[in-house]
Amino acid sequence: MSLRLGDTAPNFKATTTDGDIDFHEWKKDSWAVLFSHPADFTPVCTTELGRTAALGGEFAARNTKAIAVSVDPIEDHHGWAPDIAEVTGNELNFPIIADPDRTVAELYDMIHPGEGDTSTVRSVFVIAPDNSIRMTLTYPKSTGRNFDEIIRVIDSLQLTAEHTVATPADWNKGDRVIASPAMSTEDARARFANLEEVKPYLRYVDDPSA
Ligand code: BEZ
Repeated sequence: MSLRLGDTAPNFKATTTDGDIDFHEWKKDSWAVLFSHPADFTPVCTTELGRTAALGGEFAARNTKAIAVSVDPIEDHHGWAPDIAEVTGNELNFPIIADPDRTVAELYDMIHPGEGDTSTVRSVFVIAPDNSIRMTLTYPKSTGRNFDEIIRVIDSLQLTAEHTVATPADWNKGDRVIASPAMSTEDARARFANLEEVKPYLRYVDDPSA
């Protein structure tokens, strides 16, 4: 059965480009982005891993560790890494898991037969410090992901973990947020700044973390 939001991210041991890891020990109490890609030495994946490396400072600022996985062997990951640096200008600064026996791919349901073969599709799991899964997304092999969107989601997850708010469509860090529908307008007005009641169920307030 596939993993759902709120499930504990399954633990595993794996060989990575940074050495052998136990996933939960490697992650410790940080946030993590575990994402799969179909294969090494492929064009879209090269751009995706380079983009993730470029965002290393953004992930670190959010106490978030990135880790990639594919079913290719560790020798291929090491052989491909210089291409990523050359093509994108970004040296890898996060580990890539080698998963040739498909342990991780099967635990996280990252192989979709409808996508043509037994390599992983483009799955993303955002995992909280308590190891619960907070966001999943799955893209087909032909579509590279938007890693700015993954950063944006982490910002929303971290904000809404701390405050009883939700974030509207196309929200970005610093924008106004929405008071939780579970909260009365009176309570929301007392707790948050500059409440604007557009509808009784839609109350914008200032970002309480700003
Ligand atoms: C790519 O990364 O370019 C790719 C990988 C597998 C299928 C299609 C594209």
